[in-house]
Amino acid sequence: MSQPASKSYLNRKSVHKIIADHAAAEGDGLKRALGWASLMSLGVGGIIGAGIFVLTGTAAANYAGPGVMISFVLSGLACAFVALCYAELAALIPVSGSTYTYTYVTLGEIFAWIIGWNLVLEYAAGAATVAVGWGGYFNRVMQGFGIRVPPELTTAFFADPTAHGAPPDAVHGLFNVPAAGIVLLLTALLVRGTTESTLFNNVIVAIKVTVVLLVIIVGAAHVDGANWSPLIPDNAGEFGTYGWSGVVRGASVVFFAYIGFDSVSTAAQEAHNPQRDVPIGIIGSLIICTILYIAVAAVATGVVNYKELGVPDPMALVMDRTGVSWLAWAVKLGALAGLTTAILVLLYGQTRIFFAMAHDGLLPPIFARLHSEWRTPAVSQILVGVVVALAAGLLPLDILGEMVSIGTLAAFALVCMAVIRLRKMHPELSRPFRAPGIPWLPIAGILSCFALMVALPLDTWLRLLIWTGVGVGIYLVYGLKHAKRLN
Ligand code: ALA
Repeated sequence: MSQPASKSYLNRKSVHKIIADHAAAEGDGLKRALGWASLMSLGVGGIIGAGIFVLTGTAAANYAGPGVMISFVLSGLACAFVALCYAELAALIPVSGSTYTYTYVTLGEIFAWIIGWNLVLEYAAGAATVAVGWGGYFNRVMQGFGIRVPPELTTAFFADPTAHGAPPDAVHGLFNVPAAGIVLLLTALLVRGTTESTLFNNVIVAIKVTVVLLVIIVGAAHVDGANWSPLIPDNAGEFGTYGWSGVVRGASVVFFAYIGFDSVSTAAQEAHNPQRDVPIGIIGSLIICTILYIAVAAVATGVVNYKELGVPDPMALVMDRTGVSWLAWAVKLGALAGLTTAILVLLYGQTRIFFAMAHDGLLPPIFARLHSEWRTPAVSQILVGVVVALAAGLLPLDILGEMVSIGTLAAFALVCMAVIRLRKMHPELSRPFRAPGIPWLPIAGILSCFALMVALPLDTWLRLLIWTGVGVGIYLVYGLKHAKRLN
């Protein structure tokens, strides 16, 4: 390999990483403190978020009906192919890597740039999406206290009040203030440097999982089998609205819920035995979440008719219908806590990817500059925070979520390609974890990512094309000239 794999990128994600960075800087490193169980907890913490708490309802109401259960199976399968590829790269290159780093090492600069640019959709647009989900739960909590925020200030400017699936009383929004507000608040925290403990992180993960289990266990007793019939509602005459095409489109929408299993790889430098534990963490957290998600989808569509699930807080609605009102409260508060850390992690991750890209000369040096006192990329964090807050305030959840999904799917397909290419280029490398079935497994990963992309609406493709065009333009104008040509 021409590129040294040990390049010390200050890279993305995980509260553990933040702690380790700080602790290492102070000379009492927490390095190699994580076993496979902690890594799995980290993965589950990164995965469970707006996808399950919000988009399950959207996907059931607008696309798949109760067939959203099958959507979760399809999406989980695609992620399983990718996760096995990811595990091979993470074990082989156990730096605090992201997809960007792996691609740089294996496919070279231009692919790394494209993937880095697409990762903006996973992280920055992902943070905006989760923030909109957070806003939905926040508004319901406020309503519970009898406080009514004017709907114009809780609805995105570009949300279409006449869209299919929009509530009958939808207004034309101005700016989603709560969604933008939480982004700015968390940005302020990150600029100063977060020092949450591992314990805090684990507590939030435990709360999230408990909330999901509550929905499953309590909801299961209130399922009305009639709500599951028909399992796949008849197609409404257009591709993607119910019928099997709706199930596939539903899969591409709920794919968002699985994003984050890759976060385990970012803690590779803090794992006791990264070559063994990181693959276990990635695959284990994916298995746990797949089981939880299919169960939640089954219960949600069994308790509430799918047509009613297109609300900003579908899990709270499900609990409301069970008649145990404290449970609805528990779910709302648990979701708020869980979504908060998901936004935090995504905002953090975005600046660390920019840091690595600026380090390689693909972005201006300002993105690699650290604040002298706080040792955080403060300027970059503020820039990212403001742009994400604007996106969260102006754009509706479905547009954001679909952009995140298409960008991430494109990045995941490149990861599968990287595995095939690296096996060809460097068969001699010792691979502590070998994905089975090469090259068929990565090919299945590429095809299933592509199938999920194809199922997304045409508008989303057009936006991706524009996004990629802008990215290539920036590369030609800036990256090409300034890249440090490390490989
Ligand atoms: N998987 C994460 C979520 O659902 C991104 O919020």
